Amino acid sequence: MGWTDRHCRYFHRLLSRHTRLYTEMITADAIVHGDQDYLLQMNPQEHPVALQLGGSDPEQLARAVKIAEGYGYDEFNLNVGCPSDRVQTGRFGACLMKEPERVKDCLAAMNESTERLVSVKCRIGVDDMDDEAGLTDFVDIVQSSGIQHFIIHARKAWLEGLSPKQNREIPPLNYPRVYDLKANFLDLQIIINGGVETLEQVYEHLQQVDGVMMGRQAYHTPYLLALVDRSFFNSQDPVVSRHQVGEAMIPYIEGQLAEGVGLYQITRHMLGLFYGQPGARHFRRILSSQAAGSKGDIEVYKTALKSVPQSQTLSLEQSA
Ligand SMILES: Cc1cc2nc3c(=O)[nH]c(=O)nc-3n(C[C@H](O)[C@H](O)[C@H](O)COP(=O)(O)O)c2cc1C
Repeated sequence: MGWTDRHCRYFHRLLSRHTRLYTEMITADAIVHGDQDYLLQMNPQEHPVALQLGGSDPEQLARAVKIAEGYGYDEFNLNVGCPSDRVQTGRFGACLMKEPERVKDCLAAMNESTERLVSVKCRIGVDDMDDEAGLTDFVDIVQSSGIQHFIIHARKAWLEGLSPKQNREIPPLNYPRVYDLKANFLDLQIIINGGVETLEQVYEHLQQVDGVMMGRQAYHTPYLLALVDRSFFNSQDPVVSRHQVGEAMIPYIEGQLAEGVGLYQITRHMLGLFYGQPGARHFRRILSSQAAGSKGDIEVYKTALKSVPQSQTLSLEQSA
């Protein structure tokens, strides 16, 4: 939440054609009762995109999926991994790991209301749930909903006493538990998540499971996405440079500014584009200090881009 909005996804899509992108979590309640265009509008260039839903009412989730289908999403994912208090009060997110029957009903209802892919994102457990039997039972029950795609954040969540941020850092990562799950449920698609920082690590995980989801590293150092298509999707397309991506954002930014979107709403997702390169700090500083104000216009962005020396920008192939 707060990160993979449509501007972020447009930017990431310029880096990788094939990586599957995920929206922020949107509650089914908001979709059914709220401003649907505002919540669900996306650019056609973003595909493939999965919409992540929060909720615990099967009927409402099914309605939300039906509505969202009209906006073109390729996949619908149920969040059973978020530990925030706000989410627990609404009785969804990670606390649902304690209610596998309800999760099954939710996913079955979502699955019935669409032909498109339906998936779930969960943890390996919550609180004192048994590390072995707890997850196995959960997956066993939930798979009887008919869904086959599980994204597993490979650490437990503690529902009391830890903030969401601490819950992404303190409970230890347990990758072998996710590998074991795959070995026990060979028919399921198991996608691992949590603490993955390099494409080498992605490759290692892919020896054991079916997919890898990256969160923070992809957001903070987005240029790593530029090698994903070649490395994992058999693409022969040339690897784009950081500057090419920066330039390719100009028409998009201009279009969005004309519609009243603030410059920083878009460029805040791009601060890490030149991470590790000469001029990166300058790029960040110009965008952070000048793009936020009401005067933030395309010239600010172009100045930031020009401040990074092209000749010194190593291509990923050179720097890898
Ligand atoms: C600021 C922030 C917001 C997040 N929002 C969501 C969310 O809306 N839905 C979700 O399933 N996970 C969310 N996550 C968790 C990530 O998807 C991911 O599971 C977690 O960060 C571990 O993966 P990573 O180590 O690759 O970042 C969020 C993480 C961060 C840092």
